[in-house]
Amino acid sequence: MSNGEQLSLFDQSALTKSTPTNTQFQLIPTHAKIPIPSGTYDTIEPLTEHCNRCQRCELGATRTHAVVGRGNLKAPIMIIGEGPGQNEDETGLPFVGKAGQLLEKILAAVKLDTEKDIYICNIVKCRPPGNRVPTPEEISACKPYLLEQIRLVDPKIILLTGATAVKGLTGDKRGITKIRGTWMEWDGRLCMPILHPAYLLRNASREQGSPKWLMWQDIQVVRAKLDEFLS
Ligand code: URA
Repeated sequence: MSNGEQLSLFDQSALTKSTPTNTQFQLIPTHAKIPIPSGTYDTIEPLTEHCNRCQRCELGATRTHAVVGRGNLKAPIMIIGEGPGQNEDETGLPFVGKAGQLLEKILAAVKLDTEKDIYICNIVKCRPPGNRVPTPEEISACKPYLLEQIRLVDPKIILLTGATAVKGLTGDKRGITKIRGTWMEWDGRLCMPILHPAYLLRNASREQGSPKWLMWQDIQVVRAKLDEFLS
């Protein structure tokens, strides 16, 4: 497939031709230099289809499934993690391993329901081999998909789990322990960096000031903010 054919997907005249949609979406943006403009996707399905065929970075060569997202596509809270691990790569669903199970417990403790209140996704949609941190190139190749997800879900609150998620979305390179639990604005949206649940798994203590204790403080602040929006 030539670059010309791929680029034509994003040309308005190509989008309005009478070609059936499923054929158009076979023209996938396989190179990171090919833009995916805001408004490319009307729904999550074609975005998911693209992610599963995507070769915009090297992670496409080793994935089993692209891990796009789960939860309510109209949720008021969007949680963004770093990238899929082994369980996620196998199932195609984000946060289903041990870290995900802990995250579910934390959310349930403040009566946040992942089917109703939450949409969960990651900075990169494909598993970095050995669960390494995704590279800046991988993050920027995948970013248009994330921006489209944010546009489609249109959440009131974005939670960024861990430093890679914060840096990947906002470019803020500060350490997570400095900025967790603080509200920040990105692109006119309310965001809060929180600790990554995998970090909590490595720290058993529940004492005041421990990662688990800090997460408990932060999630209660998030719950209160959502209640404000809902009242
Ligand atoms: N860690 C993440 O950041 N994302 C997942 O989907 C799973 C574990």
